[in-house]
Amino acid sequence: MMSIIFFQHLLVGINQASSSALLKHVLAYCLGQIKSSSALPVLESVLRNSSEDPMVRHEAAEAMGAISAADESIPILKEYLSDPNRSVRETWESAIARIEWDKTEEGARNKEALNKH
Ligand SMILES: *[C@@H]1O[C@H](CO)[C@@H](O)[C@H](O)[C@H]1NC(C)=O
Ligand SMILES: *[C@@H]1O[C@H](CO)[C@@H](O)[C@H](O)[C@H]1NC(C)=O
Repeated sequence: MMSIIFFQHLLVGINQASSSALLKHVLAYCLGQIKSSSALPVLESVLRNSSEDPMVRHEAAEAMGAISAADESIPILKEYLSDPNRSVRETWESAIARIEWDKTEEGARNKEALNKH
């Protein structure tokens, strides 16, 4: 079982300006794996911060996509679809597609199958 303390360390680490881009990238990935919707506000603030490394923002978007309770993050991802950077736009598109696929019957079955392993 994931400890609350560990989870809070992830959240603090990703918010710290002194953390390296690589570390933040890993932290964003972990938050996506934990799939806790309480990580969404932090991921959103990373995504909105244009001074963050593009790699970190990319991972934050992917993590938001992975947290499927992330319905509320779709409007903000859609906002970023207008990003002038094509590779950034494609990341948002794949995150949205993933959230929307998770909501379909096929996506739900796939998730069930994954959880059995
Ligand atoms: C945005 O990211 C930069 C670089 O990590 C950080 O120094 C700054 O505090 C962040 N701004 C906000 C509003 O979180
Ligand atoms: C677009 O974003 C990618 C990473 O997301 C970055 O590597 C690339 O340099 C950016 N391109 C421009 C033109 O800013």
